[in-house]
Amino acid sequence: MSRETIVAGNWKLNKTVGETRQLIRELRNRLAGIDSAATVIVCPPTVALETAVDAARDTGIAVGAQNVYWETSGAFTGEVSPAMLEAVGVEYVLIGHSERRTIFGETDEDVNRKLHAVLRSDLTPVICLGESLGQREAGETEAVVRSQLGAGLEGVAPDHAGRLIIAYEPIWAIGTGKTATPEMVNDVHRLIRRTIADMFGGLAADGMSLLYGGSVKPENARSLMAEGDIDGVLVGGASLKNESFAEIVRAAP
Ligand code: 13P
Repeated sequence: MSRETIVAGNWKLNKTVGETRQLIRELRNRLAGIDSAATVIVCPPTVALETAVDAARDTGIAVGAQNVYWETSGAFTGEVSPAMLEAVGVEYVLIGHSERRTIFGETDEDVNRKLHAVLRSDLTPVICLGESLGQREAGETEAVVRSQLGAGLEGVAPDHAGRLIIAYEPIWAIGTGKTATPEMVNDVHRLIRRTIADMFGGLAADGMSLLYGGSVKPENARSLMAEGDIDGVLVGGASLKNESFAEIVRAAP
């Protein structure tokens, strides 16, 4: 089964509009020297999305947003709709990143509303989930992941399941320098794929790209992506420098 390999950079709250333009221009030059079939996505802050799309035009680099709201328009101060993202040429959107969940109080229900809104657009959703350190130590990883999938993906039509990308990001590995071992991640990815198969059928599960995120660096990217069920990576800190991000792209099979 050949699934799309994806290397995505989540820039979080980093880079101005000017820095975004420069980073993408440099990235394009670096990637030109790399022979990789991976889909490369960058997710800059909202204000820089239009600039990012412009800088990434004809480079093969796709642009994703870090967040979205489920309403189309109206009195929702500070929010951005799927249609607004599409209108600037954004193709992907992260939903339910652990920082959205823990810092901004997003629930699985919010994730589910956002997912349905995104599926009504042409954007590709990247649903993020994963357990905390306490949950892993308590042996709750499987239950947490299953419940986040069940609630987050509730009501998704089976024929839409093929559009989903899932990013497993254990909270204890994000920004901490602690990477889950490739075997640990692959175990959880297998669990995710089995759960997806239960929910949407084996075909959807086999075709779905499952990404890992959490302290991905050039040094560990290759061994992570060598695992059969790890189809790519969602990179935070190491995506802010093109030296490291391009090396991670090079490491993609
Ligand atoms: P780090 O790569 O900085 O650990 O961040 C991972 C992440 O949260 C990507 O979404």
